[in-house]
Amino acid sequence: MADRPSIIVTGCSSGIGAYSARALKRDGWRVFATVRREEDRASLEADGIETFLMDYTQAESIERLVAEVLARTGGQLDALFNNGAYGQAGAVEDLPVEALRLQLETNVIGWHDLTRRVVPVMRAQRHGRIVQCSSILGIVPYRWRGAYNASKFALEGLTLTLRMELAGTGIGVSLIEPGPIASRFTANALASVERHIDVENSVHREEYARQLRRLRGESGPARGKLGPEAVYAALKQALTAKSPKPHYIVTQPAKQGVLLKKLLPAALFYRIIGRLG
Ligand SMILES: NC(=O)c1ccc[n+]([C@@H]2O[C@H](COP(=O)([O-])OP(=O)(O)OC[C@H]3O[C@@H](n4cnc5c(N)ncnc54)[C@H](OP(=O)(O)O)[C@@H]3O)[C@@H](O)[C@H]2O)c1
Repeated sequence: MADRPSIIVTGCSSGIGAYSARALKRDGWRVFATVRREEDRASLEADGIETFLMDYTQAESIERLVAEVLARTGGQLDALFNNGAYGQAGAVEDLPVEALRLQLETNVIGWHDLTRRVVPVMRAQRHGRIVQCSSILGIVPYRWRGAYNASKFALEGLTLTLRMELAGTGIGVSLIEPGPIASRFTANALASVERHIDVENSVHREEYARQLRRLRGESGPARGKLGPEAVYAALKQALTAKSPKPHYIVTQPAKQGVLLKKLLPAALFYRIIGRLG
């Protein structure tokens, strides 16, 4: 093994990725961080982080990323943290097919492409960690977030299957399930509504007024919101525990959602969840 363990972290321009890249560097990792815009590289590079341009919707950028990282490490990679994503907000009946396609392309297909490219490397070296930043919305669906729920539910299915298929190879696979975390996530979700949802002509027009206030941060902080360091604590466990868990649940609201889903009959559970969000 190299003197420092190596990791690819995606979506490092803001939020959880930006925090985790720096925290990993501080904790002794060699960090390969991805962003989509050239101008987002400098501040990471200034902190000693090696940066790459990668967009999950551009397959060639994923291929290039892996080739360049492996060229720098001599063909080794200890860990991958798939993190870069966005939330397409909007009622399911208002979602143009293109908006759903782009959500799945970004949050699922791109992650799958990158993951598939690192598995053979980890198999050959007989160790590795793959950590997926999922969401409580990959376990408990909320209204007005159908596309995002669908992307994270799909991610859960793929990741848990991969975990079972990689048992005994030395490669650990985990999902982190955050509840509300302070980042640019809601601002980016707002942009996704403005881009794809015809709010004025929707039967849910009045509900959108409330949703848009929430996404603009005008209805106050979400209950139980934590900073990205809470996700980093889970990431660290998933990367370093001898036996990493399948799920790391982060924030009280996320823990409560998982517990209620376990305890309540389904019809009652979805009636309660259907009043939230
Ligand atoms: N914040 C929350 O409440 C919360 C809760 C549960 C789960 N999560 C998950 O946490 C992860 C990180 O989100 P965050 O909260 O840190 O939000 P964020 O501040 O919006 O960061 C998202 C990152 O993903 C990148 N990204 C977006 N589309 C991409 C694409 N096509 N290819 C590559 N990167 C892309 C963004 O880059 P640009 O700046 O270029 O757009 C940005 O760097 C996501 O997987 C999200 O689903 C967040």
